[in-house]
Amino acid sequence: MSDNKASMTAGGKTIEMPVSSGTIGPDVIDIRKLYAQTGMFTYDPGFTSTASCDSAITYIDGDEGVLLHRGYPIGQLAEHSSFMEVSYLLLNGELPSSQELADFSRTITRHTMLHEQLATFYRGFRRDAHPMAIMCGVVGALSAFYHDSTDIADPTHRKISSHRLIAKMPTIAAMAYKYSVGQPFVYPDNKLSYTGNFLKMTFGVPAEEYEVIPAVEKAMDRIFTLHADHEQNASTSTVRLAGSSGANPFACIAAGIACLWGPAHGGANEAALNMLKEIGTPDRIQHYIDRAKDKNDPFRLMGFGHRVYKNYDPRATVMQSTVREVFAALNVQDPLFETALRLEEIALSDPYFAEKKLFPNVDFYSGIILSAIGFPTTMFTVLFALARTVGWVAQWNEMISDPGQKIGRPRQLYTGPTSRDYVPLSER
Ligand code: SDX
Repeated sequence: MSDNKASMTAGGKTIEMPVSSGTIGPDVIDIRKLYAQTGMFTYDPGFTSTASCDSAITYIDGDEGVLLHRGYPIGQLAEHSSFMEVSYLLLNGELPSSQELADFSRTITRHTMLHEQLATFYRGFRRDAHPMAIMCGVVGALSAFYHDSTDIADPTHRKISSHRLIAKMPTIAAMAYKYSVGQPFVYPDNKLSYTGNFLKMTFGVPAEEYEVIPAVEKAMDRIFTLHADHEQNASTSTVRLAGSSGANPFACIAAGIACLWGPAHGGANEAALNMLKEIGTPDRIQHYIDRAKDKNDPFRLMGFGHRVYKNYDPRATVMQSTVREVFAALNVQDPLFETALRLEEIALSDPYFAEKKLFPNVDFYSGIILSAIGFPTTMFTVLFALARTVGWVAQWNEMISDPGQKIGRPRQLYTGPTSRDYVPLSER
């Protein structure tokens, strides 16, 4: 950390504030004493210029389209690594040895089963309940079952809870799908990989053997890797804020799932495929481009734009090539892929999108792959939450284990009435 300073004049005073540097990326101005020294707050709705914490997990350079997990570029991890290995990396900071990876995978595998009582929670939902609603409810309910691991001050409890969450999310997600289609739940199969087990719990049935297709398993595992973590995005910030009060990890992850559901965030993958279906054929693209540019029309191109990336989202690059792999492996075609490619081409050549630096993000192509594999659109954000759980718990652990950690409590610019006396009902 450098020790240079920034000075500013506010409230008639000139003050100096420390400037800190990370290993890479923008420096930060430490404003923690600003209110005490000037009686003024900073103002940054949406946190467009605010660093909420320091973290060593994920680095994004939005201008260059760079995404690093513990220093490793996402493109290299997507090509050479696995979701279990990336999970270990995010949690522990280093790539595992083969023994460490085997031990970690075995530990996760041995936590994949849910308490049998939790299966009854599903029967309280309507069959047509959105799977994200089910996931919010069931993950929040985990804290009713695992009291033996909710002392967040105990590193061992934090480790067990983290492993339980990573391990059980595929089971919870698969059960939500099974419940929606009226099929029996399929128990975890410990002989399979993390992702292979998820595919079998989702698409297998007790009446017959289920064969995991290696190309699909590889594509799904890569999609999980692409969604694993992403710096201080809205849902991760939600998990951190919930965790800052000392709430148990299951409640914090349930809060993150709820935030991810929004169409501006993780819900965009479902919204993007629904948008492509509404557009249908390439001849209708320009009409939607025109709508997206119309200030009076709330319509936006779903899967386009990003708070941080002002360049191509590196995850979207990998996602686009994965579409072709899955189509070849399953011998399928989807005209929506051509529509998506054409939409990207037209948008990126339009000055509106170029000037605002709007590029496809991780959600633009993912739905086409997930649909080809067999998932309904309502499951897309569930899959995002499944994968992001490791990022959420890694960031939560990083925050809780920081001795300087404090409860998050932002202030406001008050615009309401000044003090006034109560008026009795008889006088109103
Ligand atoms: C994810 O933060 C993360 O890291 C998130 C994520 C992760 O891994 O956790 O990467 C996952 O959430 C990806 C984003 C998924 N969301 C979408 O695809 C929804 C569509 N995109 C947006 O609504 C929007 O781009 C956001 C929400 C993603 C970002 O919004 P910002 O940063 O608040 O930017 P903005 O809304 O202020 O937009 C800037 C300008 C505006 O125009 P002006 O007011 O300047 O005239 O760009 C326009 C917007 O109208 N704009 C779009 C647009 N996105 C922004 N116009 C048309 N279509 C779009 N998609």
